[in-house]
Amino acid sequence: MAWQKVAREDAIDADIPTAVSVGEQLIALYKVDGQVYGTSNVCTHQFALLSDGYIDGDCIECPLHQALFHIPTGKLRSGPTCDDLKTFPIKIEDGEVFVDC
Ligand code: FES
Repeated sequence: MAWQKVAREDAIDADIPTAVSVGEQLIALYKVDGQVYGTSNVCTHQFALLSDGYIDGDCIECPLHQALFHIPTGKLRSGPTCDDLKTFPIKIEDGEVFVDC
């Protein structure tokens, strides 16, 4: 794992997930209560990009079958039975977002 610069913090919208990638890793960034979080961008149920989903408070809803994942922890809250989402450590330096992946 290594810190990778992926986005400007001010480019992350509180209402819309931001899709980024590091190599083959597809990552979704979110801003919840001013804090930036990162999860896998791929739903653990079937293939759907969570960056196409809907932010509901501190959760992201999958656009395909509505699995609801807690953004800070990746825990499945409701929806089809599937694994929790992988989460990534995030740090901000000089307005730049870094993901440890
Ligand atoms: S693909 Fe996400 S809930 Fe089915």
